[in-house]
Amino acid sequence: MKILVTGKGGREHALITALSESPGQHELFAYPGSDAIAALATRVEVPGLPELITWMKANAIDLCVAGEEAWLVKDRGLANLCEEAGIPCWGPFKEAAQLEASKAFAKDFLKRHAIPTASYTVCTSADEARAALTRFPIVLKFDGLAAGKGVAVCPTREEAEDFITEVMEKRVFGAGNLVVETCLIGPELSVFASLCDDQYHILMPARDYKRIRDNDQGPNTGGMGAVASREIVSTEVLARIEREIVQPTVQGLIKDGLRYRGFLYFGLMLTPEGPQVIEYNCRFGDPEAEAVMPMVRGDFAGYVFEAARGKLKPELLHFAEGWSVCLISASAGYPASSRSGDVISGLEAVEGARVYHCGTRRNDEGRFETNGGRVLAVVAQAASRDAARDKAYAESAKIRFDGLQRRSDIGRMHFE
Ligand code: AMP
Ligand code: GLY
Repeated sequence: MKILVTGKGGREHALITALSESPGQHELFAYPGSDAIAALATRVEVPGLPELITWMKANAIDLCVAGEEAWLVKDRGLANLCEEAGIPCWGPFKEAAQLEASKAFAKDFLKRHAIPTASYTVCTSADEARAALTRFPIVLKFDGLAAGKGVAVCPTREEAEDFITEVMEKRVFGAGNLVVETCLIGPELSVFASLCDDQYHILMPARDYKRIRDNDQGPNTGGMGAVASREIVSTEVLARIEREIVQPTVQGLIKDGLRYRGFLYFGLMLTPEGPQVIEYNCRFGDPEAEAVMPMVRGDFAGYVFEAARGKLKPELLHFAEGWSVCLISASAGYPASSRSGDVISGLEAVEGARVYHCGTRRNDEGRFETNGGRVLAVVAQAASRDAARDKAYAESAKIRFDGLQRRSDIGRMHFE
């Protein structure tokens, strides 16, 4: 099979690795990919989405897998254009991908289908947003794609007012509304499902760590680490999530005429009143994919290919027992900025753990250097959470570059 994956980060490196380890001989391509991904998949160099579709047709690509979300809502949408071209695509149509692209769309969907979520107001102006600040802490969300920086959990009025000024007056993310919502308290959980029309398959759940510093301090990032295991949530809680959240979501998509084939990520808060949806993402999580993919057993490529063509076959896939811990090494300045060009050492010394490249490039001497905020994911598996964590930390410690930032409490915090 000829498979193309869109994206260039650690999630795509993990997805492409899992595809490359699937039974059968598959030829892999990545758009745009990265220097590290190039070891497994040929990079496709085209200027944009229409050209990518032309290229896929000309090269008889059998399956397109959406890694990152941006292409799903660009132009007329990756999945929509693939369908016109007759290429099976694993990733939803543009209309359904609004679940991630628009916070207001997602909130209205949740409300319409009575799926538990925080109460909210959609504000069109700074004044309206200020008037909606009633209780603190409060959560403010820019209604558009903002590279993971569009959400602020504000403990005080002052912080909320500052965020409103930045977003609604200075327009740092461009035009768009602001969703003001109640702050939920509880541990977070990332639940992943494969959705294929009216069928669904819940995959291995995970937990990610969004704040830059230990003990969940400092600003939000794209994710500083993740833990995955079937044991992360009890069978009872997972059954409740399936009943109260996953099933009504699948039914809601059908009722609204939103066609969906792809991974759907349910960002949940396990509150004392039960699980509630914080957000939907129309893709796998990053860094959750780096934690989950090494646990995949069976025929991942075959599973995705069949599902993209309308036949969900859970029997093709299963997940290993035990625990997987993923540690992110980030570059100097992240998340406010990032520093590129710091040479990375120690990659070859890592043993018994996987290394996925999130933001690296090869320099003129052929050595990997930093090239973005999140740089590398080091991932280890073991029978127990402690053993997986110890292994991940021991192996990650071998990697060095100037300005490296890594949390020391991944896999411990929120568990003990
Ligand atoms: P989002 O981009 O919607 O996932 O938000 C990013 C992060 O902000 C989430 O992972 C949570 O940690 C936090 N967050 C978002 N919404 C809420 C909420 N209603 N209550 C508490 N925390 C939230
Ligand atoms: N781990 C958070 C995300 O993928 O959005």
